[in-house]
Amino acid sequence: MRNIAIFASGTGSNFQAIINAVSSKELKANITILISDKPNCKAIEKAIAKNIHYFAFKAKNYSSKEACEKDLLIHLEEHKVDLIVLAGYMRLIGPTLLKKYPNRIINIHPSLLPTFKGMDALGQAMKANVTVTGVTVHFVDAGMDTGAIISQESLNIESFATREEIETAIHKIEHKLYPKVINKVLEDL
Ligand code: GRF
Repeated sequence: MRNIAIFASGTGSNFQAIINAVSSKELKANITILISDKPNCKAIEKAIAKNIHYFAFKAKNYSSKEACEKDLLIHLEEHKVDLIVLAGYMRLIGPTLLKKYPNRIINIHPSLLPTFKGMDALGQAMKANVTVTGVTVHFVDAGMDTGAIISQESLNIESFATREEIETAIHKIEHKLYPKVINKVLEDL
């Protein structure tokens, strides 16, 4: 069985969906570590509740991104991580991790990339008045949301009345799609 690391900075609803998919054996992997740059985030509470090992750090305590990622590498190697899964992780991945995990870092983003990269993708979609948006899972490269696309699912948002309703629908898609795609990526490793 392959080992995965989840990187998260926030609520961790995707992290929870991945935990659930592992429990139900839909996802054939071990979550060996959660890594977070936000020591008080909800994702960490979810790791504690499930007895999943976690490492929390503050970027400002390192002299550089390189120093920070070298430290993360120690944890990743200690936990024999095969694939890094970003789930609401709010930092760009630098060359230190990219070199050690080529095509082994994936991300989920709430838009149909390459449209609406970066922060608040849903806000961008609403501002642009699109009728269809969606979710993308992609490999991570040095850019922001620019890596090769692995899978996408679209969502027609015409009939939704509020941003909250759209957010809920996007999360629902993410929670189903991400475990499936992780399985596929692990099979192809
Ligand atoms: C998700 O919408 C994901 O697409 C984006 O960040 C959000 C994380 O949500 N990258 P959560 O923390 O998993 O609830």
